[in-house]
Amino acid sequence: MSKATEVRLVALRKSFGEVEAVKDVNLTIGRGDFFTFLGPSGCGKTTVLRMIAGFAIPDQGKILFDEKVVNDIPPWKRDVGMVFQNYALWPHLTVFENVAFGLKERDLPKSTVQEKTLKALGMVNLSGLEKRRPSELSGGQQQRVALARTLVIEPKLLLLDEPLSNLDAKLRIQMRLELVRIQRDLGITSIYVTHDQDEALTLSTRIAVMSKGSVVQVGTPKDIYENPQSQEVADFVGTSNFFKAQVVEAKGNQIHLKTEEGVSLVVGRQEEVSFNPGSSLLLNIRPESIQISYPNEVSSEGNRIDGKVKTSAYLGSLVQYEVEVADEKKIKVNVVNPRKKALFHEGAEVSLIFSSEDVVPIPIRE
Ligand SMILES: Nc1ncnc2c1ncn2[C@@H]1O[C@H](COP(=O)(O)OP(=O)(O)OP(=O)(O)O)[C@@H](O)[C@H]1O
Ligand SMILES: [Mg+2]
Repeated sequence: MSKATEVRLVALRKSFGEVEAVKDVNLTIGRGDFFTFLGPSGCGKTTVLRMIAGFAIPDQGKILFDEKVVNDIPPWKRDVGMVFQNYALWPHLTVFENVAFGLKERDLPKSTVQEKTLKALGMVNLSGLEKRRPSELSGGQQQRVALARTLVIEPKLLLLDEPLSNLDAKLRIQMRLELVRIQRDLGITSIYVTHDQDEALTLSTRIAVMSKGSVVQVGTPKDIYENPQSQEVADFVGTSNFFKAQVVEAKGNQIHLKTEEGVSLVVGRQEEVSFNPGSSLLLNIRPESIQISYPNEVSSEGNRIDGKVKTSAYLGSLVQYEVEVADEKKIKVNVVNPRKKALFHEGAEVSLIFSSEDVVPIPIRE
């Protein structure tokens, strides 16, 4: 795929006075990847993106496009298109003129400008709206004009900084799907920045989770969600129930542990984690991995913790419970597709059941 760039970041650093915005970031973003930097506000995502675009100069480290160092290449020569959070369209120009704008400086024949502009508008499903002005468009349509304006120059690398954050929830989900479609159609390497985990999980081929200027884990969405390597990542991506536990004994593939609260749990052995008796681990159980039932109705095998329902919230597609177990610890449980399942009310005595495979051990780093 000749149109896509490979991006490599080597020991990248950037400070603003005392603030170390980006600390030692090392990454390779493959050709045609949809790569997302995910992390809380202020963790350095925009700063990384601005350095890749060339709008910010790294203090240290290198940025390579296809193995070529681009540190000294100005933004307009990097063949990069960037969509900003505040995508300000020109209000006095039509949709067509807004999109064609980027081509004007290129001295192209009028027919080529026409053809490329209409093609870009087609890509974002805006054909037929060429003559409207931004004020006559919905938020989602304006967002798509901004995207078309960037795509029309046919960049080899697409950078997107929270481009969907000012759309309402429904539009945001629709635009996510469109972004995925456009990116796959074009095969263009895309780097996306967001603090929204759902967005990151849906869009990305790979995700880098950032915290305080550092990349703390890189992986596919499935990897990041199912095998977080630290409490920070597990906590930031999705909802988690954590237990601090000590290994009691390892029997074949089953590891027996006791939590701080005195609950006995069994975990399936995993190659990357050492389970020496006495060693401490953090265990993570996702709310959707837990089944809830009345104690006398427990039939399935597996880990079991008894408790009392503290709160329940019915959301239609989901019921969210908080169940208090030993030591006043609260466990979050999500029952998906609750149709025809019993609802447990506040105060109900319940049993929580989950399999040993659904308990994910996280090594504790000192
Ligand atoms: N031009 C600047 N001058 C001084 N400090 C800055 C500048 N730009 C960013 N910072 C600081 O660097 C840190 C990282 O900022 P950055 O904008 O990269 O965060 P972010 O992850 O994009 O956050 P958000 O999700 O809120 O957009 C923050 O502490 C921020 O205040
Ligand atoms: Mg930002």
